[in-house]
Amino acid sequence: MAEQKATNITWHSGAITNEDRERLLNQKGIVIWYTGLSGSGKSTLAHAVEEKLFENGNISYVLDGDNIRHGLNKNLGFSPADREENIRRIGEVSNLFADSGVIAMTAFISPYRGDRDKARELVPEGRFIEVYVKVPLDVAESRDPKGLYKKARAGEIKEFTGIDAPYEEPLNAELVIDTSEHSLEASADIVINYLKEKSLIN
Ligand SMILES: Nc1ncnc2c1ncn2[C@@H]1O[C@H](COP(=O)(O)OP(=O)(O)OP(=O)(O)O)[C@@H](O)[C@H]1O
Ligand SMILES: [Mg+2]
Repeated sequence: MAEQKATNITWHSGAITNEDRERLLNQKGIVIWYTGLSGSGKSTLAHAVEEKLFENGNISYVLDGDNIRHGLNKNLGFSPADREENIRRIGEVSNLFADSGVIAMTAFISPYRGDRDKARELVPEGRFIEVYVKVPLDVAESRDPKGLYKKARAGEIKEFTGIDAPYEEPLNAELVIDTSEHSLEASADIVINYLKEKSLIN
């Protein structure tokens, strides 16, 4: 749990509101939170959705696991405490993006239910869309796009989700997409159609 260290700090609100920004951008600021095993397709799907949103005239931004670990979260590893802090920061950053009117998409394994729920709590009701990118472990392992499962099985990587660290499945995800059953195109359309149904985009 991150403690509040600073005292004597006061929130400053500007005249331009979230609603003003959303009107300007003609979309709702939301967080689409992709979660699932390594190799389930979070990054691939998030970027496919980004392309479709772009073509539709919507501004979105993908916060992707490894990229964020190169910068903002470079001082964090994969222990349970560091994974929690990793997700806490991503939750805060994605909420800022959503408040700016942008469609923030996060592609992190985010294996702990409690951490994902905390990220959800930051965002206004209806603005957090959890997408469980579901795939059987053996499919994820056979894809192994980064060769990580091979290393985990060889004992070269410890605490690897699905092998020797837990993955807690979402209980109430807005969307569950099995990427071993749906093509990338169809998977991306599921997300886009959901956003249209909920009037989050036009
Ligand atoms: N419907 C689909 N959606 C997304 N990816 C798919 C789909 N079908 C097959 N794939 C393939 O699955 C692999 C998913 O890899 P990707 O890097 O996106 O996973 P990830 O969940 O981001 O993993 P990591 O947590 O390690 O970053 C890619 O090789 C992709 O081409
Ligand atoms: Mg990824």
